[in-house]
Amino acid sequence: MRQEKIRILFICLGNICRSPSAEAVMRKLVKEAGAEERFEIDSAGLIGYHEGERADARMRAHAARRGYELESISRPIRPWDFQAFDLIIGMDDRNVAELRRMAPDLESEAKIHRMMEFARDSLYDHVPDPYYSGAEGFELVLDLLEDACAGLSRYCAAHF
Ligand code: 4NP
Repeated sequence: MRQEKIRILFICLGNICRSPSAEAVMRKLVKEAGAEERFEIDSAGLIGYHEGERADARMRAHAARRGYELESISRPIRPWDFQAFDLIIGMDDRNVAELRRMAPDLESEAKIHRMMEFARDSLYDHVPDPYYSGAEGFELVLDLLEDACAGLSRYCAAHF
């Protein structure tokens, strides 16, 4: 049976750089494909330190130059997310390890993925934290996410 919505939650550490960007890149892809109704897309952090904040101003500026509007407000992941989403996608191995530790059962654990699993062209197996980097770190995040989100769209078309 074709499921009504594909529910995707992107996860990083602070939910102010990588996962809000993944959310915006994926939203734009899905919108351009005319598939908005098929998807529910959100992001969250593993720490609540930045809860209530907009995405990092540097990240927003780099994203805006490529036509992405980062509108999400940082929030920490909550236990209910493991029920509410179909795919829970961490940006690096530490994110994924922490998600696995939090997963309440095997069904939830099976929803966890690493973002760069979906990438096609990249030499990277994770999306590096840009927080302490210069401009090139933020550009790299967007390059990697554009590749991985395109792959994620193909994965969703094949699996849902
Ligand atoms: P993000 O980047 O996980 O991509 O949102 C970070 C933002 C803030 C912190 C760490 C990573 N921090 O420790 O405050």
